[in-house]
Amino acid sequence: MKAIVATNQAAGIAGLKLVDRPEPQAAINDVVVQVYASGFTGDELTWPATWTDRAGRDRRPSIPGHELAGVVTALGYGTTGLSIGQRVIGLTDWYRDGALAEYVAVEARNLAPLPGDVDFAAGAAVVMSGLTAWQGLFEHGRIQAGQTILVHGAAGVVGSMATQLAREVGAYVIGTRRADARHAALDFGAQEFIDLDNNTLEDVRKVDLVFDAIGGEVGKRSASLIRAGGTLVTIMGPIEARPSNGRTIDFVVEPDRAQLSLLVERLRDGRLRTNIGRELTLDDAVAALGGTERVKGKTIFRMHA
Ligand SMILES: NC(=O)c1ccc[n+]([C@@H]2O[C@H](COP(=O)([O-])OP(=O)(O)OC[C@H]3O[C@@H](n4cnc5c(N)ncnc54)[C@H](OP(=O)(O)O)[C@@H]3O)[C@@H](O)[C@H]2O)c1
Repeated sequence: MKAIVATNQAAGIAGLKLVDRPEPQAAINDVVVQVYASGFTGDELTWPATWTDRAGRDRRPSIPGHELAGVVTALGYGTTGLSIGQRVIGLTDWYRDGALAEYVAVEARNLAPLPGDVDFAAGAAVVMSGLTAWQGLFEHGRIQAGQTILVHGAAGVVGSMATQLAREVGAYVIGTRRADARHAALDFGAQEFIDLDNNTLEDVRKVDLVFDAIGGEVGKRSASLIRAGGTLVTIMGPIEARPSNGRTIDFVVEPDRAQLSLLVERLRDGRLRTNIGRELTLDDAVAALGGTERVKGKTIFRMHA
């Protein structure tokens, strides 16, 4: 099968190669999925799990891309709940080969059914961004109607999902990002926008929840914006500054079949829309990913028309 592999950690994107690889086999409780669409996150070549297995052993050449939509072609021993020919979406294990390939082996529990009327690209694009926003808002942030939430990076891939889901539950959403993202953030549902280059973050009123998809200095300066009893949720790594009277959560998204089904329901009825920046093929991948142009939105690979 065709696959993109990462071989050289120091080279980053420049070290990606299109190669021929053996098709994966389904282990116990796995399925093999023929990939129709998959997603790539810009900084995944900096994640340790791209390069090692769970025991810390070198696993190069590794196949990146952890979000996928496709069709089940084989079942491993003992696998239940999915069948051959079924359309699915899901998140692959960070420490296993991913989905920038024609086939991928995935634990069945990491997948959910994808109805026939939802496009594979849209299905792949909702997986990581949707699950991250869902878990950040509902499980960790415990967001409620009437609360005010600040979403850093509100027009970004994860931020746009968080903005839409927070609006759906009746929260008041203040988005942030660079000035050129104002229109997109408001379009995804933010009711106010703070241009981080030209407005002062500290001028914003106190909020119940900060959802941080930017991190760094922006994340650090957000602790002081949280109302007593509020929460700072970040997806950007260890928290450097904590609110004096609130909770902080730094988490990594987990696969969840039930949540994926709730996200798909929202794609179908129009409550959610994806934020796809470009669609590539495996043949285009190495040249396109190596380009210097900053692409906004999710990069999706389509393996079949
Ligand atoms: N912990 C987890 O489970 C988890 C899950 C998913 C993703 N992530 C991580 O979350 C990050 C965001 O992912 P994503 O897919 O949402 O990417 P993305 O679309 O590039 O989102 C990042 C957002 O932050 C904005 N941004 C970055 N630096 C900024 C700055 N200095 N000022 C203003 N805006 C700035 C970007 O704007 P521009 O496009 O204008 O730069 C964009 O809106 C990535 O690092 C990813 O690895 C973590």
